[in-house]
Amino acid sequence: MFPELTRDDVFRLETRRLWLRWTRMADASAILRLAGEKAVAEMTAAIPHPYPVEAVEPFIFAMRKGNALGEHLVLAITPRAKPNELIGMIGAHKQATGIPFIGYWLGTPHWGKGFATEAVQALIDTLFTLVDVPAIDADTRVINPASRRVLEKSGFRQEGSFLKSLPARGGLFPCEQFRLDRSTWSALKSWGSSGWAHAPDFAPEVEAASGEPCPA
Ligand SMILES: CC(C)(COP(=O)(O)OP(=O)(O)OC[C@H]1O[C@@H](n2cnc3c(N)ncnc32)[C@H](O)[C@@H]1OP(=O)(O)O)[C@@H](O)C(=O)NCCC(=O)NCCS
Repeated sequence: MFPELTRDDVFRLETRRLWLRWTRMADASAILRLAGEKAVAEMTAAIPHPYPVEAVEPFIFAMRKGNALGEHLVLAITPRAKPNELIGMIGAHKQATGIPFIGYWLGTPHWGKGFATEAVQALIDTLFTLVDVPAIDADTRVINPASRRVLEKSGFRQEGSFLKSLPARGGLFPCEQFRLDRSTWSALKSWGSSGWAHAPDFAPEVEAASGEPCPA
């Protein structure tokens, strides 16, 4: 599903304040520290809590391998001014339906600054630009209003509620399902350029960085 461009670890996305890049082994301690917090893990399907030290390097390796094979596109979220400093992760994953599914998390010190919305909108723009998909899916636990708000700010519409298996949480939990159709995204982008404020401070660029650095 993911094109050649994203399958090399020089791939990165730049936004106004962020650099989204492949993860690398040097990110292990930041992932352990930030994803290791219960407040982060408990809202996700796959982040264990407590986070076993020995799990983090195999995780990074698996994310890099999946990126290289085009099975998913998982990126570290870093401040643009400090691209070595992982503050969260974001990823798009294949589904049997052919519609990619996105997930994301940020370390708690970085909450409430609009970073997740900025990263999600960059990933959405990238997916609709580079991949021929009709829509993008996401879901949140019903107890996660911050994530719901990130999705709403990015144009997603709630499709319903369901019980989802969250393996790292050990069972089925009530979740809300969201979808962003390509036609809605196109409309939001064109309204943005005519003055409607879709993402006022966001100017994504898809770039290949030379020789560098680099999640979930
Ligand atoms: C969800 C998460 C990524 C949001 O990151 P963030 O960078 O703080 O998000 P943003 O700042 O871009 O936007 C958050 C929005 O939620 C709102 N919000 C935050 N807490 C809220 C609450 N308890 N109730 C209602 N709205 C809330 C914020 O006000 C903001 O909306 P606004 O811009 O309209 O004011 C972050 O909280 C996180 O990593 N949580 C744990 C992991 C997780 O939930 N991942 C998503 C799994 S679906």
